[in-house]
Order: sequence, then C-alpha cells, then structure tokens
Amino acid sequence: MSQTILVTYATRTGTTRGVAEAIGKTLSDNGTAVEVKPMNAVTDLTPYSAVVAGSAIQASAWLPEAVDFIRTNQRTLAQKPLATFLVCMTLAMPGGEKYRPFVSDFIKPVRSMVRPVSEAQFAGSLDLKKVPSLGDRIKFGISILLGVWKQGDHRDWTAIHSWAASLKSKLN
Ligand SMILES: Cc1cc2nc3c(=O)[nH]c(=O)nc-3n(C[C@H](O)[C@H](O)[C@H](O)COP(=O)(O)O)c2cc1C
Repeated sequence: MSQTILVTYATRTGTTRGVAEAIGKTLSDNGTAVEVKPMNAVTDLTPYSAVVAGSAIQASAWLPEAVDFIRTNQRTLAQKPLATFLVCMTLAMPGGEKYRPFVSDFIKPVRSMVRPVSEAQFAGSLDLKKVPSLGDRIKFGISILLGVWKQGDHRDWTAIHSWAASLKSKLN
C-alpha cells in the first residue's frame, strides 16, 4: 500500500470542495502524496494509507452520498486512520461558536459506523442564487432578513489549515 492520503468530499454548491482542497494542500506541503477527489469518483480505498472525508450539511446531516460512502467502505475504513469534517452555516451565525457541540452531533450516524481519529466542523458559505429549491430560497431568504444567516463565504482558512496540520501526526 502506498503512503497516499485520500481527501474526499461531498458538496452541492462547491464550498466543501474548496475546504477539501485546502486540507489536501496543507497535508501535502511536506511532500506527502495526497489525492483530493469527490466521493462519487472514489471506487477503491485500497491504494490509500489514510482517508479524510468531509461533507456539506443539509437538514442537519451529512449529504446522503457521504453517509453511503462511509457505510459502503465501513470495513476498509476500520483498517485505516480516518478523519472527518463537515461544512455548515450554523457556525457562521452570529455567536455560532456556541452551537459547536450541537453541530458536532450532525455526524452522529457516521460515528456509529466508524471511529475517526479527528473530527472538525467548519463554517461554510451561502449564495441564495445557488440554492436549487424555491422553497429553500424563500426559507433562507427569511433567515437572512431576520439576521440569522448571512450570505457570503464564511470559511475560516486559518482554522482549516490548522486542523489539516494537526492531522499529519494522526494519519500515520
Ligand atoms: C438545502 C440546504 C439545506 C441546508 N441545511 C443546513 C442545516 O441544516 N444546517 C446548517 O448548518 N447548514 C445548512 N445548510 C448550509 C450549507 O451546509 C452550507 O451552505 C454549506 O457551505 C454548503 O456547502 P456546499 O457548497 O459544499 O454544498 C443548508 C444549505 C442548503 C442549500
């Protein structure tokens, strides 16, 4: 098995891809081989020594394909170091940090299948134009008017790079 780390992600509007790419960049900056791929392009985990898996949050949960990815690969993932992350808007709310324990439980179903060596939660971004459903656009539009959610990119690149750096010793 090669010493290649897989960073894999599930996204709807691209925010989580950016987070995965940033994690991949930090993990590779000391020469470690890293591949960053969407989950739907990963068919075999055998070539990888460790896996970092992350998903956008919708309806307080990882995207269904991300949960399926863990379920499908549960046995293989038990043999390798796995770290997980999520990207959501709750942490971008005013005072959002206080919701971190609540947000952390968004991946409870994942935790019942695998034992990550590390888990991270990051604020994401919201662009109403990219939300496909009219109902959701109206709902989120109201949240924005009420000041609950704020449109824009809330990703904290320092926190993302610092978590990725902390993984280097844990993914061996
Ligand atoms: C339909 C929909 C449902 C969402 N549900 C939640 C939610 O329950 N909790 C939350 O914190 N963020 C929620 N969000 C915000 C997304 O997690 C956030 O915009 C994230 O950055 C999107 O990542 P992506 O661009 O990788 O898809 C939702 C977004 C959409 C479009």
